[in-house]
Amino acid sequence: MAYRRAVSLGSEPPLMTFPLDAGPVTLRPWRESDHSVLIEEANSRAVWRNLLHQFPHPYTVEDATEWIDYCLAQDPVRDLVIARDDRLIGVCGASPGEGVNQYTATVGYWIGEAHWGKGFASDALSRFVGYVWDTFDVERLQAEVFAWNPASARVLEKNGFVLEGTRRQAIHKDGEFVDEWFYSLLRSELRSE
Ligand SMILES: CC(C)(COP(=O)(O)OP(=O)(O)OC[C@H]1O[C@@H](n2cnc3c(N)ncnc32)[C@H](O)[C@@H]1OP(=O)(O)O)[C@@H](O)C(=O)NCCC(=O)NCCS
Repeated sequence: MAYRRAVSLGSEPPLMTFPLDAGPVTLRPWRESDHSVLIEEANSRAVWRNLLHQFPHPYTVEDATEWIDYCLAQDPVRDLVIARDDRLIGVCGASPGEGVNQYTATVGYWIGEAHWGKGFASDALSRFVGYVWDTFDVERLQAEVFAWNPASARVLEKNGFVLEGTRRQAIHKDGEFVDEWFYSLLRSELRSE
């Protein structure tokens, strides 16, 4: 699959192909063979605790099958594998909105716990943002972070996302109420290089 990556406004971006591999991680589409590693990395309470309720825990064989089938059916691809040496270490995805939200996409990501603190999420998000701008007709990216997760807020801020506000006690997860931080990045904020 080919796609174009926007590096600046007002110029023709170069045509690039998967995988996106300019840094310590690569982004690539899903394969059936990611199944067992997906379970290994996703079956984590620490990952689950910071994600929306759709993310299962424990993460079963059926969950992995359903997820990979869902991703393989996407065209264009919205959810990508974050890989090191071609092995899955995490996932990033975008959900374009509908109706009045049609020019907004919500982005999400997770990295397997064994790989935290090495800059992998920051690197993955930077390339994923370029992919989303090029692939989808959206003007705004947004992300929602539980306020007990400053590492994720930092990943977003390093990639230019701006804190818009806080929804107080909006989330109930793992038996606790927690504030939710709203972040966004606008296409008009893309820097010329
Ligand atoms: C949040 C998550 C994606 C971060 O992944 P990662 O690969 O460890 O992130 P990176 O190493 O790229 O960057 C983490 C940044 O947060 C900082 N950080 C880590 N813990 C922190 C804390 N408690 N307070 C403030 N900053 C913190 C790190 O220092 C680093 O910033 P730096 O590069 O300026 O030093 C990962 O922990 C994860 O997948 N968590 C579970 C799922 C999740 O939270 N997904 C996001 C939902 S919004």
